[in-house]
Amino acid sequence: MPNRLDLPAGFRWGAATAAHQIEGAVEEDGRGPSVWDVFAARPGAVRDGHTGAVACDHYHRYAEDIELMRGLGLDGYRFSIAWPRVMPTGAGAVNPAGLAFYDRLIDALVAAGITPLPTLFHWDLPQALEDEGGWLNRDTAYRFAEYAAVVADRLGDRVPTWITLNEPFVHTVFGYALGTHAPGRTLMFEALPAAHHQLLGHGLAASLLHERGLEVMLSNNLTPVRPASPSSEDAAAAEAYDTLHNRLFTDPVLLGRYPDLSALGVPDDIYGAVRDGDLDLIHTPRLDGLGLNYYNPTRVAAPTGPGLPFDLVDIPEAPHTAFGWPVVPDGLRQLLASLRKSYGEALPPITITENGCSVDESTTPDQPRIDFLAGHLDALAQAITEGADVRGYYTWSLLDNFEWAEGYHQRFGVVHVDFETQKRTPRASYAWYRDLIATHRALHSD
Ligand code: BGC
Ligand code: BGC
Repeated sequence: MPNRLDLPAGFRWGAATAAHQIEGAVEEDGRGPSVWDVFAARPGAVRDGHTGAVACDHYHRYAEDIELMRGLGLDGYRFSIAWPRVMPTGAGAVNPAGLAFYDRLIDALVAAGITPLPTLFHWDLPQALEDEGGWLNRDTAYRFAEYAAVVADRLGDRVPTWITLNEPFVHTVFGYALGTHAPGRTLMFEALPAAHHQLLGHGLAASLLHERGLEVMLSNNLTPVRPASPSSEDAAAAEAYDTLHNRLFTDPVLLGRYPDLSALGVPDDIYGAVRDGDLDLIHTPRLDGLGLNYYNPTRVAAPTGPGLPFDLVDIPEAPHTAFGWPVVPDGLRQLLASLRKSYGEALPPITITENGCSVDESTTPDQPRIDFLAGHLDALAQAITEGADVRGYYTWSLLDNFEWAEGYHQRFGVVHVDFETQKRTPRASYAWYRDLIATHRALHSD
């Protein structure tokens, strides 16, 4: 069996974060409010009333954080740019002080020999755009493209590859369908225009980035879906869930069409959101790479009551993370195989842009995180020998951070953060990852 040390020469090692989860400094240097500032202020929205107001104070401590990355020996660092720092009201006036922060960050990364891999939208929409309907409003897609062009014009000389969106599935479902994330809407399937508008924004931005000679990726949270039993009811439920979670976000981009949404009871034009020509706008700027965020597979059964056309069930035989997510490293290999089967030649090279787990420190040391990373990297090596084209791996996350609705409770970092003192302490998984990167590099250099 191939293992992680068999990952190919030139394989790129990285770590990932996102602006609102680490930066803090939400009122500094002209940043405008985002949907997450407003949502987190609602009583009960975030566990224990936590907010991203300070987070890891990375806005002021980025130099120290880059030292931690350098210590790991990273090739690349994935982070996100906060739209409300760059354009405080989401449109029109650009805030020079906001752009200047990313300018400094990128200069410091380049000086450390680390390639910056920015994501343009990781869920922190300017609140002013939410007041106009957020991603339910088609205009937001156009505003996003304008913002992308502003940022690329300033930073594109040092940043070869850009990720447009992070996980439009999670943002649509948690933010607009279920309301557990900002902006806290509970529209169920009527949330799906927000998905279409994000994909449209991706396509419009991707064209502008390509015009500037830049490469474009899109990071999706994909999951291998398995029916709970061989029954035809469970199989149909699994297919409906696969359509919603995976194909709705991948088919338009790679194939230029939406999957059949009838099993979800959603009209073909997604409640009038899809206009003539939109799919070309989404599909024509060919992706240079697909970003894959993988956490767990999903087991699906037929619904037991009215409402959704599926039930999500646990995978009790697997170990679980502190978050309660099943740990199934081979799911990553299965997912990569099914992507090749579904998309064939249309599938671009893949980069794992997130993978990691939260560990409960009160009861366990950091070994579960090491086991998680080792298992998934071994599965990745196996997938590559089977033919998958995967170019790099960015672990989620460099630092413990503001884990959205969970506040500071789920700790995903290879570096521990004390949120009282902001002291960073590398965990055992940090040393393990550093040693793996160094050993892999030494084995494959000639
Ligand atoms: C899912 C994960 C997903 C996460 C997003 C969980 O409920 O099981 O696959 O990554 O939500 O935060
Ligand atoms: C998101 C991250 C999040 C991680 C763990 C992904 O869904 O992109 O922002 O922290 O999962 O929940």
